[in-house]
Amino acid sequence: MLVIHCTSVAASIAVAKTCEICGHASRKNRSLWNMSGIIFPFMTTLAYRLRLAAASDAEAICRIYNQGIEDRIATLETELRTPDERRQWLANRRPRHPVIVAENGSGDITAWASLNVFNAREAYRFVADISVYVERGWRGKGAGRVLLEKLVELGRQHGFHKLVLSAFPFNAGGMALYEKLGFRTVGTYREQGQLDGKWVDTIIMEKLL
Ligand SMILES: CC(C)(COP(=O)(O)OP(=O)(O)OC[C@H]1O[C@@H](n2cnc3c(N)ncnc32)[C@H](O)[C@@H]1OP(=O)(O)O)[C@@H](O)C(=O)NCCC(=O)NCCS
Repeated sequence: MLVIHCTSVAASIAVAKTCEICGHASRKNRSLWNMSGIIFPFMTTLAYRLRLAAASDAEAICRIYNQGIEDRIATLETELRTPDERRQWLANRRPRHPVIVAENGSGDITAWASLNVFNAREAYRFVADISVYVERGWRGKGAGRVLLEKLVELGRQHGFHKLVLSAFPFNAGGMALYEKLGFRTVGTYREQGQLDGKWVDTIIMEKLL
């Protein structure tokens, strides 16, 4: 699968308001459209190319995941990964649970996301857990949104009925992203895990597809 996402949106005032593939409008341009309905050709738009992850992406995926682990805002995972471990992780995935990556204009991977098995029991086959991780220097620049939008689209294509996730209540970026894409808070697990000797709550969210 190859998806060219939101390319050249700012190149011309004649282009459509949204990406033809996924309907996404970049944040800068969407706010311009909201104000005036006009795209200014001199504005810079961050464009990402979305595609399925390949084995050769293991190193970039590992680097970005380890940043998320080290930052202590994304996951209760504390064990840093290696490129080899991520390569094996990629190799073990089935098509219904893909990993996707976002490349910036230079072809560098800036973020990855995945549909994960929520529970191996047959009855849970319509539920997918999700992950989204953006490289530190690229956070807040739209990559998380385009990847999550693509996960929602892929979730529907693969026959899932809902997406679920758990997040830390103090993860402002994650909570903002999920709420903007229509995830609702199911509830809070109090003191669900310990990070560096401190109890942390986790918020459970879901989105029916
Ligand atoms: C959380 C994360 C995935 C969000 O992705 P991102 O690329 O930084 O977010 P985006 O730039 O796509 O922003 C998406 C929306 O959330 C909002 N947002 C992003 N970061 C925000 C922040 N720190 N505070 C408030 N709102 C924020 C944006 O305004 C944007 O809304 P808009 O599209 O309507 O303008 C990313 O920051 C990240 O990887 N963080 C570390 C790992 C992590 O926390 N993963 C999630 C685990 S639950």
